[in-house]
Amino acid sequence: MLNVGILTISDKGAQGQRHDESGKVIRDKLSLFDSQVIKYEIIPDEMEVISHRLAAWADEGDTDVILTTGGTGLSQRDVTPEATLAIVGKVVPGITEAMRAKSLNQTPMAMLSRATAGVRRKCLIINLPGSPKAVSECLEVILPAIPHAVEIIKGVVTEHS
Ligand code: MTE
Repeated sequence: MLNVGILTISDKGAQGQRHDESGKVIRDKLSLFDSQVIKYEIIPDEMEVISHRLAAWADEGDTDVILTTGGTGLSQRDVTPEATLAIVGKVVPGITEAMRAKSLNQTPMAMLSRATAGVRRKCLIINLPGSPKAVSECLEVILPAIPHAVEIIKGVVTEHS
């Protein structure tokens, strides 16, 4: 059973001006896996707020994976990758490289996401872009690898089978 945190990063969402469709897409996709969403919040595109929330959730020790959505692009307010990099120990470039590489078949705009992924303590943190369509496409690519990633991070498996 994967314990998941969903962190939606959106100024409008945090002000109640936009419905969180992307968070819902994450929930729907996760329902196909043996998982439960144990943490969920919508916060604004503020570097300190994002870093603080990611670190707090990871340090509480009960969350295996945090999926963020939003704030990965090129606008001035997009700081999710920087906030993530500020608090992870290991960076896992392959996860977001795969997202971009596969998504380029769907849209050239995929190259505009600066999403990153990394590990803090025993928690895998992955940035997803903000649109529901992008979330759906990116999760299709990465979800199959997540259970094994979590097993390795938690030390459940130490050898490759
Ligand atoms: N990735 C996929 N798979 N599908 C998409 O439609 N949209 C892109 C990109 N990644 C997209 C995608 C666009 S248009 C942008 S601007 C960037 O993600 C950044 O989005 P964000 O700022 O909402 O995180």
